[in-house]
Amino acid sequence: MEILAVGRMTAIQGDITRQKVDAIVNAANTTLLGGGGVDGAIHRAAGPELLAECRTLGGCSTGDAKITQGYQLPARFVIHTVGPVWHGGKQGEDELLANCYRNSLRLAASKGIHSIAFPCISTGVYRFPKERAAGIAVKTVGDCLKHLQDLEKVIFVCFGPDDLRIYQNILGKPEGQADEKR
Ligand code: APR
Repeated sequence: MEILAVGRMTAIQGDITRQKVDAIVNAANTTLLGGGGVDGAIHRAAGPELLAECRTLGGCSTGDAKITQGYQLPARFVIHTVGPVWHGGKQGEDELLANCYRNSLRLAASKGIHSIAFPCISTGVYRFPKERAAGIAVKTVGDCLKHLQDLEKVIFVCFGPDDLRIYQNILGKPEGQADEKR
């Protein structure tokens, strides 16, 4: 498995449901009641108790985040966040996507979580352009980590090699240039 790390941020290719971290992040929808893509994979791997807990949460706004137990997952927690649907970029999509990363990390820090894995939020069914999304993810997480000292490891879990290459290109750049392509 290919690995590239810059400080506390790492990008790998893999299946997020297999990650042995304190928390994995789910790219959910506002109902939090499951879906396809990474959401479906997480619910399948965690088992039906995850959906039962999600039913008690009353949904989640776009850009916001909520936490549940991980049940059958190797991860102790699942942080459910809702990415924006891409509508061309003029409807606040960039900021909403940044909020997903920011709010997920804040929630993680408030629970004493040390390691967390993110999927490429919004870049599947929600059609957010992949390079642009990765630039926002790395810039936002990098900024947050400066203030969240207890978060030791953030893993960007890329499902395919193309996504991994995008993250490698960004993480390979010197600090401060991660948002060059925005
Ligand atoms: N591990 C890691 N990444 C995965 C996995 C997995 N097991 N399965 C899919 N992915 C990747 C996809 O390849 C994509 O890069 O997750 C990324 C996000 O894609 P989606 O799951 O389609 O999420 P998103 O674009 O945010 O759309 C959210 O999809 O399933 C529904 O309920 C979900 O309605 C919501 C919408």
